Amino acid sequence: MKTYRMAIVGTGSISHHFAKSIHDLENATLVAVCSSTAERAQQAVAAFGVAAFHSVEKMLAEKDIDVVCICTHSGNHLHPAMEAAKAGKHIISEKPMEINMIRAQEMIDVCEENGVTLACIFQNRYASDYLALKKAVRTGRLGKILVGNAYIKWYRDDAYYANSDWRGTLAGDGGAALINQGIHTIDLLLDIMGGVEEVYAKTRTMTHDIEGEDVALAMLTFDNGALGAIQASTSMWPGYPERLEIYGEKGSIILEGGKITAWNIQGEEKKAEVEHSTVATGSSDPMAISYHLHRTQIKNILEAIDAGKSPEVDGEEALKSIRLLERIYQSSREGHSV
Ligand SMILES: NC(=O)c1ccc[n+]([C@@H]2O[C@H](COP(=O)([O-])OP(=O)(O)OC[C@H]3O[C@@H](n4cnc5c(N)ncnc54)[C@H](O)[C@@H]3O)[C@@H](O)[C@H]2O)c1
Repeated sequence: MKTYRMAIVGTGSISHHFAKSIHDLENATLVAVCSSTAERAQQAVAAFGVAAFHSVEKMLAEKDIDVVCICTHSGNHLHPAMEAAKAGKHIISEKPMEINMIRAQEMIDVCEENGVTLACIFQNRYASDYLALKKAVRTGRLGKILVGNAYIKWYRDDAYYANSDWRGTLAGDGGAALINQGIHTIDLLLDIMGGVEEVYAKTRTMTHDIEGEDVALAMLTFDNGALGAIQASTSMWPGYPERLEIYGEKGSIILEGGKITAWNIQGEEKKAEVEHSTVATGSSDPMAISYHLHRTQIKNILEAIDAGKSPEVDGEEALKSIRLLERIYQSSREGHSV
């Protein structure tokens, strides 16, 4: 496999997970980063040990790059993605791919038009406990699936929002607890349960001075006839590990904080048959997550690019959670099911 020359746009919190992942991978090397200002770019040279720019266009013009990793705030994934795609670079975007369907679809279109790969980070899909759950469902061990729930009762204090110019804003974050924190478990829920036929939701801003929701409830009917619930919050002090619950006719599996806490299948030994993943929950600390799952997903993405295949979480796959969230917000705004 060739060695991929990687660049990172946005040198905030999550960019360090990318830098560490790229450092670990044999077939990837970090060649440049791009910060929002000249001052931040200067700081980035020391932090990342590579050339740093404060213009994506300039970075793309001056450095030989294969893949651009987009770590800017969620409402500014589209611009760097467009520039990178037009320059013929593959793209790995952080989640959510963008803050609404129109902007996310533009990302997909520009990548298709320029023949480059678009992948989106949903690293929890690569946790071994989640993969065991998914295999059990796919191989029919739970029988017909009846109910799937995603509960993300997390806590973020006022400073978390006050110290950021984009978190909790509609333009920068697209909302708050659902689209920023909840989306990981919502992505897993959709990966297991499939498409959503109908949603009825209530979202509220109850404890923070932000535009987006900090408490949200949604009731779902899936295309396969199963039912489900989503509860997402950043107001539930002290913050509880997120739960993914899957109930079938023959049994049920519950993941809590990324780990299997219940594995009950009729006629089978009561056991969780996996080495627990190295997942840590961000229930009360946003940076508690480790970078290992980022590394696994980035490795898989580079392998897919090398093989000329679509990565597992490509643009269409990443669009699914954004589509559901748009319907949740619409249902709450309009007061009826969508
Ligand atoms: N996968 C995960 O578990 C995970 C965890 C945290 C954040 N994220 C996602 O990563 C993204 C960034 O989050 P963060 O916590 O790192 O935010 P952050 O605010 O710490 O960092 C974002 C950075 O982007 C920079 N930036 C903004 N516009 C820019 C531009 N035009 N050019 C260059 N730099 C620019 C900002 O200056 C800032 O340094 C968000 O989309 C978020 O949802 C994902």
